[in-house]
Amino acid sequence: MSQPRTASRKRQVAAPESCDRPTLLLAWYDRHRRKLPWRAAAGERADPYRVWLSEIMLQQTTVKAVGPYFLKFLSRWPDVAALASASLDDVLRLWAGLGYYSRARNLHACAVAVVRGHGGAFPDTEEGLRGLPGIGRYTAAAIAAIAFDRRTMPVDGNIERVVSRLFAVEEPLPQAKPKIQELAATMLGPASAGDEKSRAGDSAQALMDLGASICTPKKPACALCPLNEDCAARAQGTQETFPRKLAKKTGELRRGAAFVVTRGDELLVRTRPEKGLLGSMTEVPGSEWRAGLDDKAALQQAPALKGVTRWHRKAGVVTHVFTHFPLELVVYTADVLAGTRAPKGMRWVPIATLADEALPNVMRKVVTHGLDL
Ligand code: ADE
Repeated sequence: MSQPRTASRKRQVAAPESCDRPTLLLAWYDRHRRKLPWRAAAGERADPYRVWLSEIMLQQTTVKAVGPYFLKFLSRWPDVAALASASLDDVLRLWAGLGYYSRARNLHACAVAVVRGHGGAFPDTEEGLRGLPGIGRYTAAAIAAIAFDRRTMPVDGNIERVVSRLFAVEEPLPQAKPKIQELAATMLGPASAGDEKSRAGDSAQALMDLGASICTPKKPACALCPLNEDCAARAQGTQETFPRKLAKKTGELRRGAAFVVTRGDELLVRTRPEKGLLGSMTEVPGSEWRAGLDDKAALQQAPALKGVTRWHRKAGVVTHVFTHFPLELVVYTADVLAGTRAPKGMRWVPIATLADEALPNVMRKVVTHGLDL
């Protein structure tokens, strides 16, 4: 008599050790790992400089957006010593458009610290890495695991999602972070003799890839998941509802005005103060950004320019969302005569070379809007 194709058949096969979650995960990674510019070939140790550079760029930014920036940085500064000897202005210029600019300042400071304080070699422990500028808990764990195969599990947003589903973690984020961290570490598998066989970096990158390609925020492709038989959320049919999250508080809307002034084919710009939001980046002159600022008060903060008595207000507004607040900018334009001098602290730059300026995304939007580009 043939056996029915039910759970009883599954039970006959005692789950061999090689079919635990960490093993299934690594087997899946070996077949489906993404080819990414900073990744070493299978079985090879990754270059710590590339791992560090990519991890800093990938903080708050997608793999797709990071790719071209990573390649640009690597070709301009192929190693940490080259980056350390670059000027911060050049680093900010190449970083422009990637956002969260304190990362670029820390990147440069970290390269200098590695060269001056560590003889040009990245520390190979989480603790040592955490002593460097811009390297927090997640990034230290990612570099330690991926570049040095230290047995540790970095937990980013992708991994948080995968783990919270696998274990149906009911506690909402951010309180659930320690619990998720603990559960994520179980995906490393049992410690083997001489930790070097742990493949911790591969386990971490496998979870990242799983989160990016299969265990996606919406409509996860559970049928393709190597861990689907052992996923608590899927068993309940609630996978899309994880991770649980407390409602986020967003800052109050701030408003302001930006002034797009042309002199023929040149644009009036200035450099923001070194400290604070978008420090040392290039911007067009503008008003303060403040909740409740009205258009009239914003317009009164226009730069004093010879020959400009009327500003043309562009229809619509430019919006941008920073981490702590959303921003809405009204854009005013004016065109001045050849020879008009830039007000103190400002300068003219050719519009054709704006790509060489450290122009943050919000200012790209403003210029595009103001110049009808
Ligand atoms: N996101 C953050 N770090 C990553 C990595 N090393 N590979 C893929 N995605 C990532």
